Amino acid sequence: MEPPLAHARRGCIPWNGLLLAVPLITFWKLLTTVKPTIESVPINAAEGTDVLLLVHSVTGDLLGYSWYRGERVENNQIIASHRIDDSTSTTGLAHSGRETIYPNGSLLFQNVTQHDTGYYTLFMIKNDLQTESLAAQLRVYLDSTQGGSSGLSGGAIAGIVIGVLAGVALI
Ligand SMILES: *[C@@H]1O[C@H](CO)[C@@H](O)[C@H](O)[C@H]1NC(C)=O
Ligand SMILES: *[C@@H]1O[C@H](CO)[C@@H](O)[C@H](O)[C@H]1NC(C)=O
Repeated sequence: MEPPLAHARRGCIPWNGLLLAVPLITFWKLLTTVKPTIESVPINAAEGTDVLLLVHSVTGDLLGYSWYRGERVENNQIIASHRIDDSTSTTGLAHSGRETIYPNGSLLFQNVTQHDTGYYTLFMIKNDLQTESLAAQLRVYLDSTQGGSSGLSGGAIAGIVIGVLAGVALI
């Protein structure tokens, strides 16, 4: 419980002090804004397994997401889209039948093949119609039971696989 004195004091904060604080807070928020990232789970997948491209740190109100095959946002390369307002998902021309888009933007690939190796681009549309795109790499290696040592060395490639291409553009 606050003593009555605390209420009385709050009324005494000078207004110019508060006004000064507002732009500082806005500035601080800009500096600490976390960029969305994509994580491939696992980083290197064996052929025939499932891979999830996990989307982290999406902030702000979004209208929806689309995933594209490749590093560019082209209509004939859409795998799937998700609309947030009515929670509907649609598949596009580049959908192979093995991809599932989740309401949080993450994309699941089932039964991956080496053909799936490559870049995928996530396109996000925000409520203010700002857009942002991010590319991620998916790596598939041949299973050791089928691919022999060359497949394994491919799978041993270390490192962070997420290529981040961030661009903000107004529609
Ligand atoms: C997104 O949803 C999928 C499926 O429900 C889940 O596996 C995944 O962990 C979620 N991603 C994040 C970043 O929470
Ligand atoms: C996975 O894909 C291969 C061909 O790429 C197919 O032969 C196999 O039946 C698929 N497995 C499942 C569980 O869908």
